[in-house]
Amino acid sequence: MRTVEWADGRVRFIDQTRLPLEKIILETSDYRTIAQAIKTMQVRGAPAIGVAAAMGVALGALEIEASGRDEFLGCLTEVIETLRSTRPTAVNLFWALDRMSRRAGEGADPASIRQALVEEAQAIGREDEDANRRMGAYGAPLIPDCGRVLTHCNAGALATAAYGTALGVLRAACEAGKRLQVYVGETRPLLQGARLTAWELQEEGIPLTVITDNMAGYLMSLGRVDCVIVGADRIAANGDVANKIGTYSLAVLAHAHGIPFYVAAPTSTIDLSIQTGEQIPIEERSQEEVLAFQGVRTAPLGVKAFNPAFDVTPHRYVSAIITEEGVVQAPYGEGLKGICRPIG
Ligand code: MRU
Repeated sequence: MRTVEWADGRVRFIDQTRLPLEKIILETSDYRTIAQAIKTMQVRGAPAIGVAAAMGVALGALEIEASGRDEFLGCLTEVIETLRSTRPTAVNLFWALDRMSRRAGEGADPASIRQALVEEAQAIGREDEDANRRMGAYGAPLIPDCGRVLTHCNAGALATAAYGTALGVLRAACEAGKRLQVYVGETRPLLQGARLTAWELQEEGIPLTVITDNMAGYLMSLGRVDCVIVGADRIAANGDVANKIGTYSLAVLAHAHGIPFYVAAPTSTIDLSIQTGEQIPIEERSQEEVLAFQGVRTAPLGVKAFNPAFDVTPHRYVSAIITEEGVVQAPYGEGLKGICRPIG
């Protein structure tokens, strides 16, 4: 099944907190459950969060009983605000909610708005998969045959509606006949690399080796990494990239070793309303995620932890940004503006 999908007035999604040990599929007709799933990272990854939130709005619309247009739209605003407050960094969330809100505003009455929102949410899911496949086609030529590729976190099918962004590029390279060896950074503290990326690549039959995050520099110094590819949660107008914590360190290391550093992301991840990465809100999550893993304490009781979920990689360390509209290189300001179309 797809990571998140619409099924006859309900939303089905894979509970990513249980992978790789169990593949549990949850189903709900309650938008609050979707909001909670995004907060707790049962659904995670920027594009998947956007798709899930759009479907959450559609569920909310089906639940609202108001018969007048204005009252209906008032209730819908509450649904959208609940979903908006789940996670702050991935701009795909806000992009999808704004698109749903605009679509709702075009409707004449509650019945037609409900119908339009159900269709729009499904369209967002379909378009995401389509964008990922196009991104894969643009990005695959950048990956060398027999390439040893380092990736971080999970920017695969699980982080999107399907196919993936950074992993989509690697899938496309394999589909084109290239042989790859993928190094997967485990991605502390929640191990999206070791749990999710390793699971996806194994299912796909793509050879992989898991490393702990602190092994990347040594691996590069041995000459065993040909390129790095990651996804993104938000890209500023100047090409600065917010992605999973640890991405910045990899970019600096890649730069120091003369290794290309690629970012793969759909245009829905590009936020032209902010000029630089300094303006990107960085989510800080519970200290417990650093001090314990799945309920098992790993640090002494009473100590504090710092837990930013993302960091910002300055555009000077990014060799190229791969999107569904093409590959953009510096100067990013012009290139990113050229490929982003206004929605609506
Ligand atoms: O906290 P997460 O797991 O939602 O973070 C995910 C990432 O940082 C991904 O790299 C990013 O969303 C791109 S997903 C295609």
